[in-house]
Amino acid sequence: MAKENYEICHCMNVTYYDVEDAIHQHETFSDLEKEFEEVQTLTGCSTGCGGCHDKIMDAISEIMNA
Ligand code: FES
Repeated sequence: MAKENYEICHCMNVTYYDVEDAIHQHETFSDLEKEFEEVQTLTGCSTGCGGCHDKIMDAISEIMNA
C-alpha cells in the first residue's frame, strides 16, 4: 500500500517519495549506510543541518523492507 508523502528533510525539501525514487533509481545495496550515501547523492538530503539523518535511515529501511 502506498504511503502518504511527507517532507523528511526540511533543509533540502526532500520528501519520502523522493527517497523512494532515489532508491529505485539504482541497484539496491544490502548495506543501509551505503544506500543512505546513494540517496544522499541523488537527492541532496541530509546535507544541511543533518538533523534528518535518522529519519532518512528509517525511511530507507522501511522502503527496502517493503
Ligand atoms: S533537515 Fe535534512 S539536512 Fe536539515
